[in-house]
Order: sequence, then C-alpha cells, then structure tokens
Amino acid sequence: MNDRELLNIAQEASTKAYAPYSNYRVGAALECEDGTVYSGCNVENAAYGECICAERCAVVKAVSEGRRAFRRIAIYAEGRNYAMPCGACRQVLAEFSPEMEVLSARAGGSYVSYPLNRLLPYTFKL
Ligand code: THU
Repeated sequence: MNDRELLNIAQEASTKAYAPYSNYRVGAALECEDGTVYSGCNVENAAYGECICAERCAVVKAVSEGRRAFRRIAIYAEGRNYAMPCGACRQVLAEFSPEMEVLSARAGGSYVSYPLNRLLPYTFKL
C-alpha cells in the first residue's frame, strides 16, 4: 500500500470521529508489519480527560487483535497544521515499534513524514 492509500484510510476514519466538544476530527490508519491496517478516530467524552485520540484507538484495536509490530501510521485532520501525534500517542506507539514511520496530513492532503524515533527520542522503557 502506498502513502496516499494509507492517508485516504485515515481521512475516511476521521469521518467517524466523535468530537462534539472540540469539533476537531482526527483519523488514523495503522499499518502492521504483516500488511493489515487498523483505522481509528478520536472519541471524546463530556469528562474531557477521558477523550481518546485516533492513534491510540487504532493501536488498541490492533493489539487486541494480536498485532504488535507496526510499519507506519497515517494521521489526518482537517486543519491548517499537520496532524502530528500528541506526546501520549508517541509513547504508546513507541512501546511497540519505535522505528515505525509517522505520516501526518493536513487539509488539502499534503503531508509530512518522520521516523517515530525522531519525534520521540530516548523513549521511556523499564
Ligand atoms: N487528538 C487526536 O486524536 N490525536 C492527537 O494526536 C492529538 C489530539 C484529538 C483528541 C481530541 O478529541 C481532539 O483531538 C482535540 O484535542
């Protein structure tokens, strides 16, 4: 699957976002080493601290289905800025695949790509 196809899955996933509080709809598409792809969207809550990011939604879906090795994640949000993963999501992704690639898109479809270990160097590990 090429970058654009993975980004399209992320964009489609963003349409499923439950974001009545921020109105910021995020979609993620997580590609596993075996080629399977899990999508995710942000799921907000009236208790704001319980909001779940799109990236972690996708990771939890994948791990709960037995996948733990990831190649890339594409993230899409309809905004001016590239949809970079927050610090918590970087840490959760790095738990499984610190060398994976992160593709971050913005409105209009342009995107940037970074290795996760550049976005989160010196990851916390026990
Ligand atoms: N959000 C994500 O889904 N991913 C991120 O990496 C950062 C933020 C969501 C959480 C919340 O629903 C909304 O964006 C605004 O912060």
